[in-house]
Amino acid sequence: MGASASRYREVYEAASADPEAFWLEAAKAIDWTTAPSRAFDPEAGIYGRWFPDAVGNTCHNALDRHVAAGRGDQTAIIYDSPVTGTTRRIAYGEMLDEVRLLAGLLTELGVGKGDRVLIYMPMIPEALVAMLASARIGAVHSVVFGGFAARELAARIEDAEPKIVLAASCGIEASRIVPYKPLLDGAIEQSRHKPSACLVLQRPQAKADLVAGRDRDWAEAVTEARTRGVAADCVPVAATDPLYILYTSGTTGRPKGVVRDSGGHMVALAWSLPNLYGIRPGEVFWTASDIGWVVGHSYIVYAPLICGATTVLFEGKPVGTPDAGTFWRVCEEHGVVTLFTAPTALRAIRKEDPEGALVAKRDLSKFRALFLAGERADPDTVAWAERVFGVPVIDHWWQTETGWPIAGNPVGLGLLPVKHGSPTVPMPGYRLEVLDEGGKPVAPGTMGTIAIRLPLPPANLPTLWRDDVRFRDSYLTTFPGYYTTSDAGFIDEDGYVFVMGRTDDVINVAGHRLSTGSMEEVLASHPAVAECAVIGVKDALKGEVPAGFVVLKAGQDGAGSEVEADLVRHVRDKIGPVAAFKLAIAVGRLPKTRSGKILRGTMKKIADGDEWAMPATIEDAAVLDEIAASLKTRGLPE
Ligand code: COA
Ligand code: AMP
Repeated sequence: MGASASRYREVYEAASADPEAFWLEAAKAIDWTTAPSRAFDPEAGIYGRWFPDAVGNTCHNALDRHVAAGRGDQTAIIYDSPVTGTTRRIAYGEMLDEVRLLAGLLTELGVGKGDRVLIYMPMIPEALVAMLASARIGAVHSVVFGGFAARELAARIEDAEPKIVLAASCGIEASRIVPYKPLLDGAIEQSRHKPSACLVLQRPQAKADLVAGRDRDWAEAVTEARTRGVAADCVPVAATDPLYILYTSGTTGRPKGVVRDSGGHMVALAWSLPNLYGIRPGEVFWTASDIGWVVGHSYIVYAPLICGATTVLFEGKPVGTPDAGTFWRVCEEHGVVTLFTAPTALRAIRKEDPEGALVAKRDLSKFRALFLAGERADPDTVAWAERVFGVPVIDHWWQTETGWPIAGNPVGLGLLPVKHGSPTVPMPGYRLEVLDEGGKPVAPGTMGTIAIRLPLPPANLPTLWRDDVRFRDSYLTTFPGYYTTSDAGFIDEDGYVFVMGRTDDVINVAGHRLSTGSMEEVLASHPAVAECAVIGVKDALKGEVPAGFVVLKAGQDGAGSEVEADLVRHVRDKIGPVAAFKLAIAVGRLPKTRSGKILRGTMKKIADGDEWAMPATIEDAAVLDEIAASLKTRGLPE
């Protein structure tokens, strides 16, 4: 389909000209208890609230209504787990039974509307049952990614104050079993808040010890509840009530609790799946991410189910489970029409299968489009994927905060011409501007910070969990009247957006969002460290990897010593393996300005091998030369 056939412009303009009418129309895709009489109240909340008088339930829209409409036998979830050798298809009707039962059990355990439910589970169907059961009774779930360490989990438990934790005994990585329970026990011990109960799903790969009086065996509890006929109906909640909290990296060690409204979330997802991703009910959509990330919340779980599609829940990796052909096996076997993954995954596959031989072996006749997000999609990887698949390869850009894409190429409205390196154009409701440091809009093609003119569209965060002040300070005060994305980039003459990188201390490692500030806090807490700086350096596979430069306290062994290895272990223990922190370099001094600010930007340029100029404000020019020399001798990890 060519650009002339795309309805994008008229749809985007309709949303800008009359957002009330546009979003009220979009809201008709949802089955409400009380339908919205208005789309937006500019007086409510911090920048206004979406669907202020609507009432409904997300679980009802994801399951009950499809079953009531006769889709009970349609497959809702295809669980494909190469790490356990399992494939299981779960119908909408079956899923509804499981969710009603667990929701009933949660109610018996004292969980009610507005209570938090923390979910610490890998990519297994029970995790989706847990999310939907929480939504069903109006509770607020918070899913924590399995690659975090106990300290990170503790920070989330302390902030969300969950009444109950739903956990599995372990996750399964390509190379090892990850026992979750010791991490959970450690986190609860560290946290000032203690959940009243934990329901633990025992996986055969690693059984967990249960704490008497607090922990219950999931399977036993569910089986017992089933014999008693336990079940819960949907609890209607306000569209402005939170469906979930999802923690994401900020610039400090304290994660940000992104709040998601129930109503706006349903509407934006129901709009985006057909119009952006081009998915129709009954089709198979696969998002190869993790339910611990926003991409997983929106496009593994909620959007496909709200729209009556079939979602693939994949417990594996792009490579190593067992090989670089796994993705294409899944696409062929399950008739996937659209795959959504991270550029890193493609780079990992390409490394092992450069010519796409494993793709050519498969019948991918149903495969229509490949979507990429989570990090910048480098043009080289996009071009490779286009060549190998012969379908549109679509970069799209979003953040945990937004809940759905800010910019993309709308397949459902008619594809626009692709420009490599650009996630194409803003989605309806996103009024983007590129601003200079003083907050003035810049000319097309000029770099600046990409900001979204308020109000943010539906599904975007209304605030941070119990922290309006941090919400305002982090996003709204830099440029009054705008939300700052903290992404730098430009918009070209054709209105195409280009997103080049973060303007803050957040780095993107293998599509995972991490805070260098948080790694610095952990390094600084080590007894051997006097001061430190962590930067993200370019990496051919993961996009970026962290590198820590540390000045050790007097009397410590320096470069190449055991202390460096200990620091790597320290970050892994405190933040988790997902930090991919593998390089700590002891240096004599850190480069600083005369006012004492560490010159991280210049260090990064040196590490990346980019052109760099000696900053005029530097306190001692020789320090940068020392950094360059230590990088040369030490190199970066493979
Ligand atoms: N539970 C426990 N540990 C986890 C984990 C989880 N859910 N996810 C990752 N880890 C661990 C990994 O095992 C690895 O540990 P190691 O240091 O012992 O090897 C570490 O965290 C780093 O993981 P990762 O950065 O993912 O590297 P990897 O080498 O294991 O895999 C890729 C490389 C490219 C295959 C992988 O990063 C990938 O699939 N990336 C795509 C990410 C993605 O889909 N992001 C979603 C955003 S849209
Ligand atoms: P997360 O909140 O984990 O989804 O990470 C959001 C961040 O990832 C954004 O602020 C960007 O820095 C980066 N990001 C996500 N998608 C893209 C993309 N398509 N292009 C460039 N950067 C992206």
